Amino acid sequence: MQTHEIRKRFLDHFVKAGHAEVPSASVILDDPNLLFVNAGMVQFVPFFLGARTPPWDRAVSVQKCIRTPDIDEVGITTRHNTFFQMAGNFSFGDYFKRGAIEFAWTLLTNPQDQGGYGFDPEKLWATVYLDDDEAIALWQEVAGLPLERIQRRGKADNYWSMGIPGPCGPSSEIYVDRGPEYGVDGGPEANEDRYIEIWNLVFMQNERGEGTSKEDFEILGPLPRQNIDTGMGVERVACLLQGVDNVYETDLVRPVIDLVASIAPRGYGAGNHDDDVRYRVIADHVRTAAIIIGDGISPGNDGRGYVLRRLLRRVIRSAKLLGIDTPIVGDLMACVRDAMGPSYPELVTDFDRIQRIAVAEETAFNRTLTSGSKLFSDAAGATRTAGSSVLSGTDAFTLHDTYGFPIELTLEMAAESGLSVDEEGFRGLMAEQRQRAKADAAARKHAHADLSAYRELVDAGPTEFTGFDELTSEARILGIFVDGRRVPVVAHGAEAQAADRIELVLDRTPLYAESGGQIADTGTISGTGASGAARAAVADVQKIAKTIWVHRVTVESGEFVEGDTVTAAVDAKWRHGATQGHSGTHMVHAALRQVLGPNAVQAGSLNRPGYLRFDFNWQGALSDDQKTRIEEVTNEAVEADFAVNTFNTELETAKAMGAMALFGENYPDEVRVVEIGGPFSIELCGGTHVHNSAQIGPVTILGESSVGSGVRRVEAYVGLDSFKYLAKERALMAGLASSLKVSSDEVPARVANLVERLRAAEKELDRARLASARAAAGNAAAGAESVGRVRLVAQRMAGGISAADLRSLVGDVRGKLGSDPAVVALIAEGENDTVPYVVAVNPAAQDLGVSANDLVKVLGSAVNGRGGGKADLAQGSGSGASGIDAALAAVRAELGRS
Ligand code: ALA
Repeated sequence: MQTHEIRKRFLDHFVKAGHAEVPSASVILDDPNLLFVNAGMVQFVPFFLGARTPPWDRAVSVQKCIRTPDIDEVGITTRHNTFFQMAGNFSFGDYFKRGAIEFAWTLLTNPQDQGGYGFDPEKLWATVYLDDDEAIALWQEVAGLPLERIQRRGKADNYWSMGIPGPCGPSSEIYVDRGPEYGVDGGPEANEDRYIEIWNLVFMQNERGEGTSKEDFEILGPLPRQNIDTGMGVERVACLLQGVDNVYETDLVRPVIDLVASIAPRGYGAGNHDDDVRYRVIADHVRTAAIIIGDGISPGNDGRGYVLRRLLRRVIRSAKLLGIDTPIVGDLMACVRDAMGPSYPELVTDFDRIQRIAVAEETAFNRTLTSGSKLFSDAAGATRTAGSSVLSGTDAFTLHDTYGFPIELTLEMAAESGLSVDEEGFRGLMAEQRQRAKADAAARKHAHADLSAYRELVDAGPTEFTGFDELTSEARILGIFVDGRRVPVVAHGAEAQAADRIELVLDRTPLYAESGGQIADTGTISGTGASGAARAAVADVQKIAKTIWVHRVTVESGEFVEGDTVTAAVDAKWRHGATQGHSGTHMVHAALRQVLGPNAVQAGSLNRPGYLRFDFNWQGALSDDQKTRIEEVTNEAVEADFAVNTFNTELETAKAMGAMALFGENYPDEVRVVEIGGPFSIELCGGTHVHNSAQIGPVTILGESSVGSGVRRVEAYVGLDSFKYLAKERALMAGLASSLKVSSDEVPARVANLVERLRAAEKELDRARLASARAAAGNAAAGAESVGRVRLVAQRMAGGISAADLRSLVGDVRGKLGSDPAVVALIAEGENDTVPYVVAVNPAAQDLGVSANDLVKVLGSAVNGRGGGKADLAQGSGSGASGIDAALAAVRAELGRS
């Protein structure tokens, strides 16, 4: 049974049983703690937690999932994919254990001709959580499973959570016995390669907190309702139903193996285990990489980008170890597209981008491999010269750090040259580097290379933000930094005046630091302290370590001394615009969810005075109707003049109110809630807002576009900018109407009419041009010259003629020349300095050995052209009309010789 059919049967089975079919979410969701979506339930987490009300009681989906912790197992075991499709059914407080067991059992064991998978019930096993007697009883009663095929297992195996705080619960897993040829008896407990897990039924009933492992985490308490979350591994079921040995040989993965085998010197399944693993690594990873790029990630040095880079590099390296020396990633991506495209259309529509990104990584990695190999030989030489046989940890680390060599590659190369590697030394250096990288990543976020200079201030406590209540505040300078170094004083002109190099840290400030999508306030800091009048313009405000707010300034006059009392002031006009932008963002968010439903989950946002943009998870473009509705709902809510209410409360209380959290934020226990119009919009947000929704002013949606697969973006103007935009559009329209001499309402009809007439006129012109060319061709035939043994028409045609017309003309002329040996070569001045040309040779001339394909090359060489064809007809195109005469002369000369 093909994978496609397995997916379809799953969906059909559950839709028939009243489940809503929900499309797969992007593998990147808005939880900063989750690298990739790793289960079907992730997009439903708020429903399980009771934070949001699900629009249905039952749902079914086939979710794209990525799990990379087992990356080293890939290809070695038979069942580990880094990308897989999880088919799942979900109950939100509706059916529970009995329903879940019954649904799964019927789909698995129903005969194939009745829509099931047709598994032999005698081959199925189940596991349950230690004390789950209820599940054991249900397996016996509902499925007739004998007690000896039900095993109890502990928390590590049968208690499921996402690995991070969220919903969790005991689970029951279903296994298929592949038979004694795959290993010892004794059920899943004894051997997970013989007994393959295919389906996990989770009885989702608790909420977990932080923890360190699968077994060690805190249970915070019961969920509001008992739910069901299940996950069936589509690839594993495919492996079993297709009778193949492992998940890499199923119909959607195998084509990659076959492609590689057609290139590599050593085949797949030829008795070399290491090679086979390499094949499987390539097949698995390349598919995962395509999906990740498809969802908007590019290779990078941390987070998701690093996972992607690692996958691609493992592919390239495995190909090299298989003896493939040519670039291969582009072809592999095309192969993945062909196999997976029917289920994931974004792999087709976005293919160019996906392939480009993957190939660029291959090119870069190949370059480093080449330079790294040189470094390796030098280091190996030096090691031997020094009388040692152990390559140092430092060398291995440099190869890794500078040249991207995975340690395995260094180990292999060392072994080939009879050396070993100081792996321990290498790992020590790696650990140090990870430490550094962690600090760097945190610093980069705040554009600071080294946080230590600010440490003292961070320790002294957070900056007080006064800007919710006032626009001007008295403050004290706690620290001054130039280029990240602390200095006691900074004066106008004394330091190079680059706005991002001078920073002031105050004890309190009304200037908002960039966060939660709102960009920083602009304003001024003026000295009123001992050192007299000083003034600095604030260009940016950023948070360091989330607690202290750093003002990037240009000192315009005077000097600032640590300890000075200053006045910090927000530019009031700027702030007014910023509040409009931020409140406008909340309004658009609320309107989006009202129009599109709760699946339109926020993925990011940015707002500044007059403008906002909002990214959300959504498959496919919005219709015009949806865009209009979103704009209408937003402006109606503006018009309703809702009160904007902000207050602090506990995170749990806020969540219970249905408050929506902002992308990428980790919230403390006490949070700030911004409520606009009661239930209309409730968000957790630290930003500055208008007091009443009417103050936002008009909101005009500019457009909607795709930013990576599954993520859409709306952009809008707000307030006066919105008005200015509309006024500009109106002026454009008025100008158009006046030049068309109609009223605005009549413009569309008028333009349509003009376009239609223009098309007709162009057609007419083409006809006339062709007719005159035909007449010219008639004359040309009459004036055919004898050259060598053929009659030749070699002519320059009037300009503006298309290659297609030229082709049809050449046929006309050849027809007119009769059956004696004849050759026609026509060339014209085309558009944009192109020179199209066509050569036709009739059968009698071909019998003399004359070929159009040869002649077209002769013609082309005089006009820098390229082209070709067959013996009877060939064509090409060059550039530079000045070569036309020479080209025709060259044809004459060529035929004269024959
Ligand atoms: N969420 C469960 C799993 O991933 C079904 O195994």
